[in-house]
Amino acid sequence: MALFFYPFLSDCMLKLFSPAKINLFLRVVSKRADGYHNLSSLFQTISLGDTLTIELADQDSLTCSQPNVPVNSSNLIIKARDCFRQKTGILQPLSIHLQKNIPMQAGLGGGSSNAATMLWACNQLMHTQISDDQLALLGASLGSDVPFFFSHGTAYCTGRGDLVKNMDSIGQSSVWIVKPMDNVSTPEIFKRFRLNSSIDSVNSEDDLSQFLNGQLAPFNDLEETTFSILPNLKQLKQDLISQGFQTVLMSGSGSAFFCLGQPNNFKKPDCFHYQAAYLRRHPHQWYG
Ligand code: C5P
Repeated sequence: MALFFYPFLSDCMLKLFSPAKINLFLRVVSKRADGYHNLSSLFQTISLGDTLTIELADQDSLTCSQPNVPVNSSNLIIKARDCFRQKTGILQPLSIHLQKNIPMQAGLGGGSSNAATMLWACNQLMHTQISDDQLALLGASLGSDVPFFFSHGTAYCTGRGDLVKNMDSIGQSSVWIVKPMDNVSTPEIFKRFRLNSSIDSVNSEDDLSQFLNGQLAPFNDLEETTFSILPNLKQLKQDLISQGFQTVLMSGSGSAFFCLGQPNNFKKPDCFHYQAAYLRRHPHQWYG
């Protein structure tokens, strides 16, 4: 069952939903001089997500429902808070609690979503009226996927993922998220990825029009690289396909899969699984 959280707003406290994302297609277009890769990817937010509660306080703190999540300066929430402070000069201490539901190292953008949600929250609580475009620019310094979350939930992303073109809704869809125990390091996957020279000649904007016309099935160029490190993921994909899903695809660099369509007889796997829906946000409101 999909869980929805409604934002609670007061002058000194915000409770915000921080959604996961999936990549309905992901093409790696080229390797860049700065070490990143240019992508062509359709991103969609979903109703699986964390909740961030942020309150004005006497001193800074970050707590998390999961003890294995670092709550020090390596956490993107802290980085987002500090980035906002640097931009505005506003040093108001904040008490932050993260209810963590999105699996980590899954390709579901959990950390990036938390960072974007934190930037949006700071802007609301401090009444700074920074535009979404500017918040997205700030977010780009924290991670390639952060700007996407300032879209309305469906966006075609290029560059290293940070050039975001807002899209209309692509319709409602129920989606199962399945995350095996294996964790994946995004830098490691990109390091091992070998560009197929023929890909370079593809006009990546064609991906979007063909996908929207139903001429291009969902795909992820990073799947094979992740499978080469974790062959059991390929087996899991086969198992899920054999249960009758129309699409079973890894999200981002993995290791989570999203499954579209109606399975014949879904045998829920012995690992994290969650039935979600596509999620969008209204302009001037956050998700949820
Ligand atoms: O931007 P972010 O910090 O999320 O990226 C993590 C790592 O993933 C980068 O340091 C880079 O090695 C790799 N990456 C990439 N191309 C992208 C996004 C990420 O090579 N478009």
